[in-house]
Amino acid sequence: MSKIVEKFLKDYKKPAFKIETINLTFELFEEETIVTSVMKFIKVDESVNELRLDSVDLELLELRLNDLKLQESRYQIDEKSLTIFGIPSTFEIQIKNKIYPHKNTELEGLYKSGDIFCTQNEPEGFRSITPYLDRPDIMSVFTTTVIADKMKYPVLLSNGNKIECHDSFDERHGVTWFDPHPKPAYLFALVAGDLGSITDEFMTLSGNKITLNIYCDFGNESKCFHAMKSLKEAMTWDEQKYGREYDLDIYNIVAVDSFNMGAMENKGLNIFNSAYVLADMDTATDANFMGIESVIAHEYFHNWTGNRITCRDWFQLTLKEGLTVFRDQSFSADLNSKEVQRIEDVKALRERQFVEDDSPTRHPIQPKSYISMNNFYTSTVYEKGAEVIRMIHTLLGEKKYRKATNLYFESFDGAAVTTDDFLWAMSEAGEIDLSQFKRWYHQSGTPKLEVKESFEGDTYLLRLKQVIPNAVDGTEQKAYYFPLKMGLLDENGEEILEKTLIISQEEEEFSFDGLESKPILSINRDFSAPIIVKQEENNFAFLMKHDTNSFIQYEATQNFALQTINKAINSDEIDEDFVNSFGHLLDLDVDLSYKSLLLELPTVSAIMQTQEKIDFDTIYKAKEKLLYSLATAFKEKLVQIYNQNHFPLSIDLTTQAISQRAIKNRVLRILSALENEEVAEMAKKQYSESLTMTDRIVALDILENIHASYAQEALEDFYKKYKTQTLVMNKYFAILASSGRDEVLQRVERLQLDKVYDEKVPNLVRSLIGSFSRNHKYFHAQDGSGYKFIADKIIELDKINPQMASSLANSFKIYDKLLDRNKKLLEQELKRVVSTQALSNNTYEIINKILMNA
Ligand code: PHE
Ligand code: ZN
Repeated sequence: MSKIVEKFLKDYKKPAFKIETINLTFELFEEETIVTSVMKFIKVDESVNELRLDSVDLELLELRLNDLKLQESRYQIDEKSLTIFGIPSTFEIQIKNKIYPHKNTELEGLYKSGDIFCTQNEPEGFRSITPYLDRPDIMSVFTTTVIADKMKYPVLLSNGNKIECHDSFDERHGVTWFDPHPKPAYLFALVAGDLGSITDEFMTLSGNKITLNIYCDFGNESKCFHAMKSLKEAMTWDEQKYGREYDLDIYNIVAVDSFNMGAMENKGLNIFNSAYVLADMDTATDANFMGIESVIAHEYFHNWTGNRITCRDWFQLTLKEGLTVFRDQSFSADLNSKEVQRIEDVKALRERQFVEDDSPTRHPIQPKSYISMNNFYTSTVYEKGAEVIRMIHTLLGEKKYRKATNLYFESFDGAAVTTDDFLWAMSEAGEIDLSQFKRWYHQSGTPKLEVKESFEGDTYLLRLKQVIPNAVDGTEQKAYYFPLKMGLLDENGEEILEKTLIISQEEEEFSFDGLESKPILSINRDFSAPIIVKQEENNFAFLMKHDTNSFIQYEATQNFALQTINKAINSDEIDEDFVNSFGHLLDLDVDLSYKSLLLELPTVSAIMQTQEKIDFDTIYKAKEKLLYSLATAFKEKLVQIYNQNHFPLSIDLTTQAISQRAIKNRVLRILSALENEEVAEMAKKQYSESLTMTDRIVALDILENIHASYAQEALEDFYKKYKTQTLVMNKYFAILASSGRDEVLQRVERLQLDKVYDEKVPNLVRSLIGSFSRNHKYFHAQDGSGYKFIADKIIELDKINPQMASSLANSFKIYDKLLDRNKKLLEQELKRVVSTQALSNNTYEIINKILMNA
């Protein structure tokens, strides 16, 4: 067993060597791959005489230094490295080694997804391909030759431009790629396969013609057009909004089915989880289309924020991820609806990041240490990181922000830098002192803001207090600097003022005079800071009705609903005021996508965050009861909205069509709380007559939950139609594993034996096992069966793919907030997992944190 090493940011040391160029040759065979690497080194630190290259389980065939074969006494190999002794000042190293991609189930390094050879090297995958200084501050110029069977692998790709084709061999052929931009090894990529593709072109602002290719399995070409459209939109947007152009002649995207994450920004050769490329109206939902648009843009934007300017070390991950998420969020907001996008962003942040920030795995957006870097691709680093960039954008304003990003690009192009370097550019061009603001990078946990109001004479007094949680190790943390956008309304709902306050003290007061009567406060408009606002008084109903800020109108609705649900938990009564306010929402004349968000009740995760000790049974009961009251009170109106917006034969992807599907499906879901024959008929009809996957999935989900026999029919039909399309089967598994029906666990267990299911494909694991772990009703079952099942899966998956296992392990992180009876059951399982033989570092790190910090 390899020993557990914790890495610390404070231990960072500059590399003692540079690698000027690397020349790679891959000879791909079915059972093995031979890798030859020729690297030109320069010694930076003359006092160093040995070279330690990162390398995992190296099978070395040959090692040369300046063309001389090295004696065994000149080097040493262990599980994690290859060390060479007696190193001159400038030198060339040549390594030949053997790897086994077809046996690689971890999906890191070079592996096979179906019949496609592909790579995933972020953060530390390259070291399992060939020995290297596998750290992002080593940037080198890569030349790559790929050689493989001509028939089986006609398409051979790597980064940069194609410079040579080798067709002299009989059954085999080769291609050489050259990438002129120095890059870290984590951006290296290789693909070999027999692939279909679509091609297009993009003309950059300065007149360069770029060839755009999207590769996929044969037969899926027609599903790539939305991705291509999104790519071109992203390219145009980055030119206009950030002045950034693409910098190679070719941009390739390859869709593969087995991928641990969403996608990867490898230079000039993005590799994507096929779920974020392939879509058509018959097989993908509107949400899938949006997801593709945003991930395609995200990876494209990385070309400047991540690739041209990269991270010095992995502790700086948010430098590229926070910024790039902020960029993709802004892009989606510009292309679609700003107000809907903002709400969706905040919803996602609260659903996952707030939970993480209040758990034993909480960490700053710039973590201080890690055992497995793979565990730090978190919603904190990504989504909270994006909120931090958004605050900078708010503090600077659009114009200065653009000046500051220009300065960042000009100053650090081609370099591997830190978040401090980024903040330097922001404060320099933004003419602002960000020293206190920096705490957002180094402190963890979500700050609370306590709000007290008073009114005397004609003066309104606003008193604010920041309550800052301790770090996970108990360290006290300090007050933050942030923009707080607020508004005041008069009693008729007229806006008195809107202002962005700058908060920097633990306690602060703001007064507003010349007011006739006590104003109504609208605070943290647009969610200007990622905080939790605690108000003494509330005016939810008023703000729902009158606030001009769409985010606050949504927020007030959610808060009112949360309050109503919590009252129902305690008293079993439904607050009539909420029901009435909800009725007003139904009549609002607003964008229908926005309206469908207003009509959505808080998720179970949102409700659970308001509880000291989480009792899922009472949460479900209260939420169902509220939904039932709403459906009963407004049945006619809801049916009317449904009928006005249901166009089963439309397969349009226009904003109008999407928003009509959104509102229609929202009201159908509310109506489904009635669980009667009439609603079941509506869902059944929608399932069979609608031509879009969006409509079919909602109908199927409703039937599954309210009508066993209709559900059976529809599920059988669905399975028959789509069993050959894994992306659609993911939806099928997710519906069944998220179901509220009895015996879900037994069904999940059975579904694992289904022909379509495959434990080696992360998407399928996420949709079946992952969905079950979010199905709180059964995951937290009082006989402990849910915990035991997931613990077993963690242990099993850990041997196949540690990243899959540790992401499942994250479902245990609310441990400390569970009722005692649940804690007892779970503790047993946590201990069982952590004491498993040969457990991966990934899983160990997560489970151990949960046990230690509970
Ligand atoms: N860097 C990728 C992104 O954010 C995510 C990723 C990380 C993919 C690690 C694979 C492995 O787009
Ligand atoms: Zn990213």
